[in-house]
Amino acid sequence: MRTALTELLNIEYPIIQGAMAWVSESNLVAAVANAGATGVIALGGRDVEWARNEIRACKELTDKPFGVNLMLMADNKDELLTVIIEEKPAFVTLGAGNPVPYIKPLQEAGIKVIPVVPSLKLAKRIEEAGADAIIIEGMEAGGHIGSQTTMALMENILPEINIPVIVAGGIVDGRGLAAALIMGAQGAQMGSRFILAEECKAHPNMKNAIIKATDTDSVVTGLLSGHGGVRSLRNEFTDRYIAAETDGKTTPEERSQMAKGTNKLAAVDGDVVNGAVQVGQGLNRLTKIEPARFIIQEVTHEAIMEIRKAKRLIDLI
Ligand SMILES: Cc1cc2nc3c(=O)[nH]c(=O)nc-3n(C[C@H](O)[C@H](O)[C@H](O)COP(=O)(O)O)c2cc1C
Repeated sequence: MRTALTELLNIEYPIIQGAMAWVSESNLVAAVANAGATGVIALGGRDVEWARNEIRACKELTDKPFGVNLMLMADNKDELLTVIIEEKPAFVTLGAGNPVPYIKPLQEAGIKVIPVVPSLKLAKRIEEAGADAIIIEGMEAGGHIGSQTTMALMENILPEINIPVIVAGGIVDGRGLAAALIMGAQGAQMGSRFILAEECKAHPNMKNAIIKATDTDSVVTGLLSGHGGVRSLRNEFTDRYIAAETDGKTTPEERSQMAKGTNKLAAVDGDVVNGAVQVGQGLNRLTKIEPARFIIQEVTHEAIMEIRKAKRLIDLI
């Protein structure tokens, strides 16, 4: 498949395995890159040494392009930026802050810059600032979410932006990829589906909880804290958190303390009762663990079939 995204990143398929804190590291990212798509190492919550080692480990495992994700609210973002500029992954995705000041320094180091954008206003500013592409991520996604659905973002942003737009949030198969491409996107970013990749080191308890879950099993916590919500599987942790949000007795600081470390607790330690099993809403299709290569081949094959079917609609007119 060829789109502006495959051209930009020199990859075969227009699929990015999105950054997932405590989940996406070199093993998964290299497997995805070797299969012809591309992946992103999540630096969220990690120190500088880990970041450097993972980027180097990934280069050992693949000679294909891959990216890293820098969360702009991280206390160590400047140190991480230095590591990124020295290690030169093919691209960087930027989120949770204003990416504009980071665009030029990264590009001058030969690194492509792809911010994750929640609104048209920011998308336009970022396009003007010279970003290589943007990712729009709907609230169907796992992890931190914005306020618009994937469909609303596509309708609001795709007609207005000329650099390549990649769509994320609730896309788990080729139907979703085809829909994004037909609407004018140049690719899709998927996170949740890749948690179930064989090469993904997320704890088996997290993978099994996702396999067991169905479409209505995720909830959003943190909506009342003012920093946007976080989508995870409903469990004892989310029940406790949501009760604390609504009982009027806790402060946002106390709740942020309650949530601290819960993504790691689920993904690394496998505590799917007290941890946050962050995952998107496309749950019914997340049914089995399989190699990253199978996921990419199936998604692209399905997308091609869907696009062919869509073409028949015109031929019938
Ligand atoms: C477990 C998990 C952790 C995530 N962590 C990050 C992160 O650190 N940085 C980021 O930009 N996006 C993060 N995301 C969002 C993904 O990169 C991606 O955009 C999202 O998963 C797409 O929606 P989907 O889950 O429906 O596929 C995370 C998503 C999940 C499921």
